[in-house]
Amino acid sequence: MPRVFDSISPRDIQLWGNQTVKLRHNLAERDDLFSDESLARLIETIDPKHLDITTMGDDVSTWGHVDRAGQAGSKVLEAIHGGRVWINLMAIEKADPRFADLLDQMYGELEAALPGFRTFKRKLGLLISSPSARVFYHFDVPGQALWQIRGRKRIWIYPPTAPFLPATEVENVVRSLAMEDLSYEPWFDEYAEVYDLAPGDVLHWALNGPHRVSNLDSVCVSLTTEHWTSAIRRSYAMHYGNGILRNKVRWTPRSTSLDGPAFWTKAALTAAWRASGMQAKEGYRRLLTYRVDPDAPLGVVPLAEPERRVVTL
Ligand SMILES: [Fe+2]
Repeated sequence: MPRVFDSISPRDIQLWGNQTVKLRHNLAERDDLFSDESLARLIETIDPKHLDITTMGDDVSTWGHVDRAGQAGSKVLEAIHGGRVWINLMAIEKADPRFADLLDQMYGELEAALPGFRTFKRKLGLLISSPSARVFYHFDVPGQALWQIRGRKRIWIYPPTAPFLPATEVENVVRSLAMEDLSYEPWFDEYAEVYDLAPGDVLHWALNGPHRVSNLDSVCVSLTTEHWTSAIRRSYAMHYGNGILRNKVRWTPRSTSLDGPAFWTKAALTAAWRASGMQAKEGYRRLLTYRVDPDAPLGVVPLAEPERRVVTL
């Protein structure tokens, strides 16, 4: 298979993991993976739990999960083209071995180029979204990158610190008490980095950097990669432990250290809490409030109360 990355320069190596880095890839040419036929087949064959379809209005309050409702993959793509729909095929490396190979190759090339960069728990997601689709202000827990395959989109990336990323919100998301949405103020944009992504661009940014995305009037096909490193795992355990202290022990944590006795106490607390099964009881569920309808103006129609159902993640 040809290389995924065009080149990774000494400058990119120094920036990686600390600052935003934009590289070039050649996946936009891979019709075998990203043709409409291939996308439609993936929509139909992926484990339905890994297919997250959403729709959005002009503000956060009209955002909702969508039931595929038995529609063929080609009909879901039709709804995306004509409506306002965003779909995320999660962990496609488990649905199709070609994507498992691709994921290995992506990280193989990165680990060969970046000294000390060793990853585990890697995941590959495929996003297909309408020309007017948006993703609201949020952050993600693991390390990540966004790969543009078809169409153009704009991404705003904000500093991974208060007030853009309050500690309590990180703790709740890490503990799966909340989804990754954050409170947003328009003036945050004065502190954002803005990138326009075209086919062949891939962007990686600092861990937990809040971001939001708007498509630039074209259907977009993108990939997201997620990974963990030992440093990311320590950051997770620190936030998790701080969240337990704050909410269950009524203690206000003051340390975000990733080493030393305070850190290791939190790491032990996190392990004990997860082993006790408490996290599962407090986990997140997805409530489906719309269904796909390619003939509707937004590509979706609301479900009446009795037709709504919950999917447990
Ligand atoms: Fe994200």
